[in-house]
Amino acid sequence: MSPPRVALVGTGGYGAVHFDNIERLVGAGGLRFAGCTDLRPPGPGLLQRVAGLGGTFFEDYETLLKAAPDVVVVATPPHRHRDMVCAALAAGAHVLVEKPPAVELADLDAMTAAATAAGRLCQVGFQSLGSAALARLRELMDGGELGEVTHIGATGCWARADAYYARAPWAGRRRLDGAAVNDGALSNPFAHAVMNCLTLAGVGAADRPRAEAELYRTRPIEVEDTGCLRLAAPGRPPITIAVTLCAERPRPPYVLVTGERGSARWWYETDVLEIALAGRPAVTERHARVDLLEDLLRAIRDPRASLACPIEDTRPFVGVVEWLADQPVRLVPPGARRRHDDESGPRNSIAGVEEDIERAVAQSRRFSELRPLPGWL
Ligand SMILES: NC(=O)c1ccc[n+]([C@@H]2O[C@H](COP(=O)([O-])OP(=O)(O)OC[C@H]3O[C@@H](n4cnc5c(N)ncnc54)[C@H](O)[C@@H]3O)[C@@H](O)[C@H]2O)c1
Repeated sequence: MSPPRVALVGTGGYGAVHFDNIERLVGAGGLRFAGCTDLRPPGPGLLQRVAGLGGTFFEDYETLLKAAPDVVVVATPPHRHRDMVCAALAAGAHVLVEKPPAVELADLDAMTAAATAAGRLCQVGFQSLGSAALARLRELMDGGELGEVTHIGATGCWARADAYYARAPWAGRRRLDGAAVNDGALSNPFAHAVMNCLTLAGVGAADRPRAEAELYRTRPIEVEDTGCLRLAAPGRPPITIAVTLCAERPRPPYVLVTGERGSARWWYETDVLEIALAGRPAVTERHARVDLLEDLLRAIRDPRASLACPIEDTRPFVGVVEWLADQPVRLVPPGARRRHDDESGPRNSIAGVEEDIERAVAQSRRFSELRPLPGWL
């Protein structure tokens, strides 16, 4: 049987990572390339690579779907996902759609129903759900090694320059041209932190977690660039997530699972797990991760295989994103904002925010509950 034909919608931004991955898999003989499309005209370099892979640069995604690809990767902005995913599924393709799959539950439900109606698979690009560190963490939790799990937290301290918000009209927006975008730090760049915590806590589609959030911004955007979120679902460990895109000194994000007998810190970008159990020396484990497109291809071949992140599993996450879109966003006072011009380009930071984020997660507190209060509140 010849390998499936894949097509890519959205080659700019994060789509470039998918293009590289598709090139790798085509080179390894596991895929054929139907082609790709983007609103922006392709440069000569991209056209050469497309031709080298035997594909076509299509005029738009509707034309791309007429080429009947077996698999479609959707890497466009979140408010474009629903129509593209539903059309791809209806055309008979399996889909890998970038996170967040949707920012409103109605859109997510429409995509889930379209997958069921078409009998096709739909995977969401939460790549850390392909990490063996997640399975190991679950084993530590379920096997009782951590003792009763009392808290799950996640921190994120990144720096995003002015150019990040200038790169696309949807960046930093809640709505654009009538569509919900919800491009807040918790809903989009740190979506992984939120999804990882919900997954580890076992929050399911039927759970309705109680949510509390404090959202802040340092620039003229409609969403938070800094925020904390607390979630509590009955019978599940409480969750605290605190993130910023205005770190003075950026550092990698992590998930922290705390139990009565120890804790485990998951550096989810690198699949590193630090385990500290009472009475035992701390250990650091390095885990592998499956690529989500390869995982999808495996599940297409073997109907008994489950997906790392099937679209229906993202419902609790999208519910949180939808709820966040209605929360107020406060401006950080000018005196607490700093301007930098370093290798990331001109950007904002908030004085001392990293420490406040670590404290919020370690103590399961909202920013306004920390003592001493963050200097920037
Ligand atoms: N998994 C991850 O770690 C990760 C990282 C970054 C971004 N993302 C996700 O990837 C998606 C894209 O984000 P981005 O930051 O690259 O966005 P972007 O706006 O920077 O790039 C999106 C690309 O899609 C193209 N596009 C937009 N509408 C299109 C249409 N109708 N037809 C064809 N092409 C179209 C744009 O021209 C652009 O090239 C988002 O869902 C984002 O959350 C995921």
